[in-house]
Amino acid sequence: RRTAILISGRGSNMAAVLDAAVAADYPAQIVLVLSNRPGAVGLERAASAGVATLVIDHKGYKDRAGFDAALDAALEAAGVELVVLAGFMRLLTPQFTLKWLGRMINIHPSLLPSFKGVHVHEQALAAGVRFSGCTVHFVTADMDAGPIIGQAVVPAVPGEGPDDLAARTLAAEHRLYPAAVALVAAGRARLDGGRTVYDGDAW
Ligand code: GRF
Repeated sequence: RRTAILISGRGSNMAAVLDAAVAADYPAQIVLVLSNRPGAVGLERAASAGVATLVIDHKGYKDRAGFDAALDAALEAAGVELVVLAGFMRLLTPQFTLKWLGRMINIHPSLLPSFKGVHVHEQALAAGVRFSGCTVHFVTADMDAGPIIGQAVVPAVPGEGPDDLAARTLAAEHRLYPAAVALVAAGRARLDGGRTVYDGDAW
């Protein structure tokens, strides 16, 4: 399936998906990496992997609707069928999320529905959890609240700081996201009536 990855920065999850997509039997073909920030480090990595890159700077638009319309036009122009958010730090309008419903996924560094938004690892440690992790979910209008596709658990080590937990969680993200993207791209996990349905042996 023709797939775009949307980033805002480092792009390490993007890189994990790009690495997986090199395999001939990987069901997602990465046709575009798009960033809302011109300086995103991930853009260089994508370009060196031979993937088309595009910057749509949100600062050039007067509101979210204008930015999202430009995003949508770029995705359509590239014939994109699946949108993969990977550290993409812009909230998307309800209209945009509705249009791409079931065809847009995100990864978040907590075990949702706990700890949505930003400063996730600080939130988790402040709550005293012993296990954190990461979640891949379909994107809906409500931030970090769409139907869950996959999760991985990461133990929280008493006494560690948010950067330590973030680093160990990121390693789990790099395993989970390529697998989850493949499931969705192959249609083996899909959105149906507001729930994720899986082929029997999907995970
Ligand atoms: C990841 O922790 C991801 O879960 C969150 O933002 C971070 C992006 O990191 N949404 P990277 O750009 O993929 O390296």
